Amino acid sequence: MLRARRRSWRLGRSWRTRAGGPRRRALIAVVAALVVIAPIAWMWIDSQMPSSYSVEDMGTPDLGGGPGMDHAGMAGMTGTAVDQLREPPGPADVDVTLTARAGRVTLPSGRVVDGYTLNGTTPGPEIRAVQGQMVQVRLVNENVAEGVTLHWHGYDVPAGDDGVAGVTQDAVGPGGSFVYRFRADQVGTFWYHSHQVADPQVKGGLFGALVVTPRDGLGDTADVTVMTHNYAGRRTVNGLEGDVPAAGAPGQRVRVRVVNTDNGPVQVWVGGAPYRLAALDGTDVNGPTPSTDSLPVTAGGRADLEIDLPADGAGVRVELGGASAVTFGRPLPPTPRPAGELDPLRYGSPAALPFDPAAADRRFDYVIGRRLGFLDGTPGMWWTVNGHLWPDVPMYVVREGDVVRMHIENGSGELHPMHLHGHHAVVLARDGVPATGSPWWSDSLDVQDGHSYDIAFVADNPGLWMDHCHNLAHPSEGLMAHLMYEGVTTPYRVGGDPHNDPE
Ligand code: C2O
Ligand code: CU
Repeated sequence: MLRARRRSWRLGRSWRTRAGGPRRRALIAVVAALVVIAPIAWMWIDSQMPSSYSVEDMGTPDLGGGPGMDHAGMAGMTGTAVDQLREPPGPADVDVTLTARAGRVTLPSGRVVDGYTLNGTTPGPEIRAVQGQMVQVRLVNENVAEGVTLHWHGYDVPAGDDGVAGVTQDAVGPGGSFVYRFRADQVGTFWYHSHQVADPQVKGGLFGALVVTPRDGLGDTADVTVMTHNYAGRRTVNGLEGDVPAAGAPGQRVRVRVVNTDNGPVQVWVGGAPYRLAALDGTDVNGPTPSTDSLPVTAGGRADLEIDLPADGAGVRVELGGASAVTFGRPLPPTPRPAGELDPLRYGSPAALPFDPAAADRRFDYVIGRRLGFLDGTPGMWWTVNGHLWPDVPMYVVREGDVVRMHIENGSGELHPMHLHGHHAVVLARDGVPATGSPWWSDSLDVQDGHSYDIAFVADNPGLWMDHCHNLAHPSEGLMAHLMYEGVTTPYRVGGDPHNDPE
């Protein structure tokens, strides 16, 4: 304002007369400035989140073309609270206590990092159950100041056991504990990790494997779990670096369960023998055929590779991004990454689906973009969902029993591994090209920039479920929405005294 006034004095009398005087000129400058600044100031103020909030109040309800929402459910007046959606207490077949600790950690490789352990190790103990068993895990927080939870990634547990701080429970503070219970109905490879300040805690090692084997066992198959993780920039296999030998006799069949615990995809390939992709994200592939292609494993995703070890004891290497490997038999030098990539869209043989995606009750869009704006008062380039910045993202509303279709599209300039809690979705198409292989059930789906997926699932697990990017740096940059069952409420809040911070 001052500068505008001074400039009009310098311009002299004739100009002043024509323009209507310095006052008017100044006023125009002020109004112009306000026109620019006011919306920005409003956006800044509007983006600021209260110190605590319920995810029920987040976003814009999206009914996906289905019947309307009983609003009382959303207001928390009626309905079922998420913490009532739990297994009742009782005996357990698998009963584990996991004690979380923060501090200096010596990895199995001997390397020392700052991070987290469960029962003194990272990865934490592998939890193994047989199909049908009741699993109970008592999480104890010894000294993790910011609190901890455990989320059962890919396991469709009852909503109250989903382990999301501020949504399904309060973060467990130092000295506290929480008991998770679920029936091991799904057979396959899964993992657990903290869902309180998830990005640093998972990076720092607060995770472990969850493996559920079939009732009738795996026969003579050797069973090898491979958790791949980057600790402070070093790729590891179960905390070990370089070549990691695994047990498997010549001629034996091995099932290698690769779990990608990182924020980005890992290319996996096998040197010395072909493999079959036996399962993806904890679900068996129908009619897997031998392959020698490289397999991209999504962040958070799992891939079970079945390999018949050569009868003569010749070496086999399961390469993890070319930085480390699991080895069997005689030593074999590292093998280069094959040019071909296995595409689950066309791999294996088709089979009937247990529901008809064509008869969808709701259709949702999850379109990922990126733009300049404010997120909780901070300016930056943030992710958008359907064009809106967090928290103005959609709240996908469903009713139990709905067949749901979702169109995920990514034009944000980066890859996003999308993860819906509590459900497994089947991939119908990528970029409009229908799936022609085995039914591809996924809970962690890499959506490349410039590409789209159509997926479908049955809303068969009432709750309030996160649907977010598993590059765990991204949810706190806005790439996070929720799937809400009509009538389900939460008594928990993000923020507040327990400092619930799910990302
Ligand atoms: Cu493995 Cu919400 O995450
Ligand atoms: Cu992302």
